[in-house]
Amino acid sequence: MGKLDEKVAVITGGNSGIGLATAKRFVKEGAQVFITGRRAVDLEKAVNEIGGNVTPFQGDISVLADLDRLYDLVKQKAGHIDVLFANAGGGTFGPLGQISEEDFDKTFGINVKGTLFTVQKALPLLKDGSSVILTGSTTSIEGTPAFSVYSATKAAIRNFARTWILDLKERKIRVNVLSPGATKTPGLLGLVPAEQGDALLGSFAERIPLGRVGDPDEIAKVAVFLASDDSSFVNGVELFADGGQAQI
Ligand SMILES: NC(=O)c1ccc[n+]([C@@H]2O[C@H](COP(=O)([O-])OP(=O)(O)OC[C@H]3O[C@@H](n4cnc5c(N)ncnc54)[C@H](OP(=O)(O)O)[C@@H]3O)[C@@H](O)[C@H]2O)c1
Repeated sequence: MGKLDEKVAVITGGNSGIGLATAKRFVKEGAQVFITGRRAVDLEKAVNEIGGNVTPFQGDISVLADLDRLYDLVKQKAGHIDVLFANAGGGTFGPLGQISEEDFDKTFGINVKGTLFTVQKALPLLKDGSSVILTGSTTSIEGTPAFSVYSATKAAIRNFARTWILDLKERKIRVNVLSPGATKTPGLLGLVPAEQGDALLGSFAERIPLGRVGDPDEIAKVAVFLASDDSSFVNGVELFADGGQAQI
């Protein structure tokens, strides 16, 4: 018996990093999974890697028409959603003084607007009692040099969960934030040129009490907990999977 047997799950940003690792875990636990991303080639690779009950969808979460197409597909193939992992997101470094309007609009457009409409447009398909998981970050409560715009988007996500559990009270839909610390993904490594990747991971590891960065599967296991009935009384929390970084 899997922890997610007969559940229908949608994972945005499921073709890479944390979303991909979570899609693998969800399928292993018995779920029917939809994964999204903008890059078709990576979606196809992900489907092959996951190897099971997975449907890819190419689209951009910051484009509302793409979200409509996504949920049309889910409706047609599955009829409803039990677990929504609104995980797609990202950011770039830029110190105050060098932040462009374009970077601001792009980061808020994906992480905040995209996450909001990913959830809002799913509401007609989400079953009462379902689980919504938003990907936050330790940056929601910490300062990180040259990372203020990204960090502010994750602070916004943290409040979405606090407020949405009130808006969704009648439907008993749980909303939680899963906040990873530095985790070795293509997204994290993409913040710097390839030759600086090891140095970046080393500098993050120094600030983490466990002395290392996370593996995407370590975040995926927490996503399974939040998705499943094991967390049936957990609602509105920000659950950090960060080796202790945000607790010191
Ligand atoms: N890795 C870390 O250290 C870390 C720490 C804290 C929080 N996080 C958060 O964890 C989440 C996943 O990041 P990751 O580290 O796994 O990075 P990743 O490997 O770059 O994965 C990001 C995923 O999001 C998708 N995505 C990005 N923008 C999108 C858009 N506009 N529409 C649809 N999909 C989009 C990407 O697919 P396409 O590019 O194909 O669209 C990709 O599948 C993000 O929300 C990130 O902020 C990561």
